[in-house]
Amino acid sequence: MSSDNFQSVLTENRVFPPSDAFVAKARVNADQLSALRAEAAADFRAFWGKFAREELSWETPFQTVLDDSNAPNYRWFHDGTLNASYNCLDRHLATRGDKVAIRYEGEKGDTRNYTYRELHTEVCKLANALKGLGLVKGDRVVLYLPHSAEAVIAMQACARLGITHSVVFGGFSATALRDRIEDTGARVVITADGNQRGGNFIELKKGVDDALALGCPLVEKVVVAKRTTQTVPMAAGRDLWWHELTAAVPATCEPVFVDAEHPLFLLYTSGSTGKPKGIQHCTGGYLLGAMKSAQWVFDLKEDDLFWCTADVGWITGHSYVTYGPLANGATVMIYEGVPTIPDAGRFWKICQDHGVTIFYTAPTAIRALMKSGEEIPNKYDLSKLRLLGSVGEPINPEAWMWYHRVIGKEKLPIVDTWWQTETGSIMMSPIPGATATKPGSCTQPLPGLFADVVDELGDPVSGKTAGGYLVITKPWPSMLRTIWGDNERYKKAYFGQFPARPDGSLLYVAGDSTHRDEDGYYWILGRVDDVLNVSGHRLGTMEVESALVSHPRVAEAAVVGRPHEIKGEAVCAFVICKGARPTGDEAAALIKELREHVSKEIGPIAKPDDIRLADGLPKTRSGKIMRRLLRSIAKGEEITQDISTLENPAIVEQLAGKA
Ligand code: WT7
Repeated sequence: MSSDNFQSVLTENRVFPPSDAFVAKARVNADQLSALRAEAAADFRAFWGKFAREELSWETPFQTVLDDSNAPNYRWFHDGTLNASYNCLDRHLATRGDKVAIRYEGEKGDTRNYTYRELHTEVCKLANALKGLGLVKGDRVVLYLPHSAEAVIAMQACARLGITHSVVFGGFSATALRDRIEDTGARVVITADGNQRGGNFIELKKGVDDALALGCPLVEKVVVAKRTTQTVPMAAGRDLWWHELTAAVPATCEPVFVDAEHPLFLLYTSGSTGKPKGIQHCTGGYLLGAMKSAQWVFDLKEDDLFWCTADVGWITGHSYVTYGPLANGATVMIYEGVPTIPDAGRFWKICQDHGVTIFYTAPTAIRALMKSGEEIPNKYDLSKLRLLGSVGEPINPEAWMWYHRVIGKEKLPIVDTWWQTETGSIMMSPIPGATATKPGSCTQPLPGLFADVVDELGDPVSGKTAGGYLVITKPWPSMLRTIWGDNERYKKAYFGQFPARPDGSLLYVAGDSTHRDEDGYYWILGRVDDVLNVSGHRLGTMEVESALVSHPRVAEAAVVGRPHEIKGEAVCAFVICKGARPTGDEAAALIKELREHVSKEIGPIAKPDDIRLADGLPKTRSGKIMRRLLRSIAKGEEITQDISTLENPAIVEQLAGKA
């Protein structure tokens, strides 16, 4: 992926300045952007302090903007107190009580609107119910819910009580769910009886039952949202219906004010070990980052209908379905379904029917919809759209141009937003009324954020075609605070790679390689660690490897990525069996079984696209698997690398399917 990308990066020279019409109404134009950058460069603490005071409603105002005395465990606004749910709901009631907060559409076409007042009521009721279960500030609750209004309500209800939520994507398996519940130490899980997705019934409740059967001794109660007509078994004393719990509780609930650093949520993501990391985000700084970035990047205005298609199970769904837009008092669209039902026009039909003005999706979706042809989007009235966005992986210039031409009618700005679960909010992106875009570049850091490109030693790299590691050179409000339960891993994984700069500042290592062009624009090339990006979802190769070796027939496994037309990267596994290596039908049956096994261990997103059975893996004499070689084999490339240092050079032929 990287080398292909690098080629396209070097040859891409189209530039798209914002249109006069967009600039005229934009929240931030080029002059204002320069002023913001200058202000942040002069004093980034004062810059963020000012916005934190202006944008957030504090119960106790903070005195200190940034405490870096214990870096990299930074604290922002730590002596102030606030409540995230108050900031997303209560403070809008007087002026926006009847404004729609959520427009919901299900896969079958059912719709429901929630005004800010209605959302507030639902959140208060659930919060009262959770209080009734004995939950208090500091407790953790795991949410395993469909992408629905209920998910937003549950997140907000937790936030209202100072309970730290951890949303587990509904596509993760029971085993993955068990691991996450156990790591958080949650006493309560909130789920649904199931949901309709891709034309299938997804058995979420069964996922929770299975996870609890596998472990999770601390879980006392399971709250179940009734969203289907299916009957699901309810364990007496443990399982409780959401609608029953909330039937007789008051419709108001005082928010619990917490320190700005109080953990708002944990969200698990993959790293280069087999164990996912619980990324810990805080209340104040996180909310500020989500809120300001939504204003700058999406030019969010009072009458917009903002649709971020990401599931709430990912960080994008946290920051740009839930917290960022609601803190701004915006209206969000939630569609609980897949883009291809009943046909590949569904997204465009939703844009038309609801009047979506801002549409934010992932390159994998754009590529998939592009494949089904432009006649489909051309059938719909997309005239309400005014801004398009992309997130999750590098967008290839071809997909960018299609998005620009077919969806944007060559008029709409495209914001290609680079960020991560860890960064909490968008770090690099065009500002639509100010930045000239280049297809495939996320352009430059937002005001108040500072990035750089460094070499293996951490020294800055410059020059026209220079590439290197992407680092962030100053702390920022919405950054992760730690890895839940493993602060050492936090320090080592994100700040341990390079020495501090002469001024004492630490370099945050993003794990991406990048190129910065002569205009100072960044082009993200891909991950440098053992992390894959499959359909915009991060997946550790080690996680898939451990899932594979947990199968009784597998002795050893190595997983690499290869470029995939739609998914960005496909998962390729090389597997060494215990005992004799099966061939023919037996091999085919085992491969099928292994794919299912990975799906069961992690979830369908991790299912390997290719599995090759072999007698050995290419290893150096010191026993290190040569992943670079495996990547070439997975791509079907001619092997030109020197394999003389391999312990078993003959294996290469076999892996490549030539022996
Ligand atoms: C990784 C983070 C941030 C929400 C979704 C993914 C890749 C993300 C872009 C982009 C190129 C991108 C990076 C990053 N990535 N956005 N606009 N251009 N690459 O969150 O699962 O934490 O993954 O996704 O490799 O490190 P995540």
